Amino acid sequence: MTVELKSFLSIFFVLLALFQFWSMFELLGRKEHRLNPRLLRRLHQVSGYTFVALYLLISYYCLRDFAAAKGEVSPRGTLHAFVAFALFVVLALKILIIRVYKQLKGGVRQYGLVVFVLALGVGASSTGYYYLMRATGNQYQISKLSGQARIGPVSGAALLDEKCTRCHDLSRVFDRTKTAEGWVQTVDRMRELLPGWIAAREGGLVAAYLAEIRGARASEGKPRFVASALTALNSVDSTTRDAGHDLFTSICVYCHYPDRDEDKVGPGLKGLFKKPRLPFSGRPATVENVLSQLRNPIDKMPSFAHLGDERLGTILAYLQTL
Ligand code: HEC
Ligand code: HEC
Repeated sequence: MTVELKSFLSIFFVLLALFQFWSMFELLGRKEHRLNPRLLRRLHQVSGYTFVALYLLISYYCLRDFAAAKGEVSPRGTLHAFVAFALFVVLALKILIIRVYKQLKGGVRQYGLVVFVLALGVGASSTGYYYLMRATGNQYQISKLSGQARIGPVSGAALLDEKCTRCHDLSRVFDRTKTAEGWVQTVDRMRELLPGWIAAREGGLVAAYLAEIRGARASEGKPRFVASALTALNSVDSTTRDAGHDLFTSICVYCHYPDRDEDKVGPGLKGLFKKPRLPFSGRPATVENVLSQLRNPIDKMPSFAHLGDERLGTILAYLQTL
């Protein structure tokens, strides 16, 4: 089930809880009824059963995802599961009282209130969180929530097996290490040998995968990009920007459109520094944050720390013109 569908169902779920709450107050809280009490009671019952059915449906999918999840569940997930379980217990008690232990009926209102509060808690800790992340543009959290790895080593590996064995076996691939830039260049050269056998996006995936499994560690221990270089960026000349443009066209275009918002392998970089937030992580669009992405990427992007401060500086200068 997609996050969008889950969110839709859980909004419906919370709305049903709201209706239950309101109709209970209308039925029990007023001396003189504004609305036909029989009809309202009937509606209360029907929406109560729908609520239970929806609870079971959503739980089924959540438990399935839960069972398939790799690794430890996040604190938010744990809280969500706990509140959902508590909701189950209270709901079961309430139904038991209404259907079987009718003598206890007096307490049923309190149970109703607790169900309402717990239902809100379940919604807030899942869908509420999802929409908060969307509202603040936190793509990183969203892609984690929807379980979409944008570029996965698995697909890179599969593509390597499928595509790169067309002209030679993989021994020449596995017997060497290269920097990320080196792998991008190699794949680029392979693509030029024969047109059309692999798409740019797929080439990017293979290069990223190779950088991961056969990557040279060219970058560790370099000095940090100095503050003076950052201030110098404000007064860069066009030669620097052109150099940055050339670098971008030789290494970044595989995975990023410079003039579009759409995703290629990574997000589109149009207007990168003109927008308040970075497209993937949602961090503020500052030179420092982009630089940190180039040196220590947050997810699947290969590191470009090996390019060195000067060349990273020219790329940053170019990125500011997008
Ligand atoms: C159209 C045929 C063809 C395809 C498809 C192809 N290669 Fe090659 N590859 C060659 C040829 C020809 C050479 C030797 C000449 C050269 O190095 O340019 C070579 C050499 C290489 C080398 C050794 C040279 C170097 O730069 O280290 C590597 C590594 C390599 N290929 C990787 C790959 C990868 C990875 C893929 C898949 C993305 C791939 N090849 C797909 C034809 C191909
Ligand atoms: C092999 C594919 C690939 C290459 C090459 C690549 N990127 Fe990325 N880039 C990604 C992916 C995937 C992401 C999403 C975040 C991640 O995986 O780290 C990303 C994210 C970004 C972001 C957004 C970071 C954020 O915080 O939202 C910027 C900026 C960026 N890349 C710049 C560059 C620049 C500049 C280059 C060239 C030096 C480059 N990338 C080369 C795949 C790539």
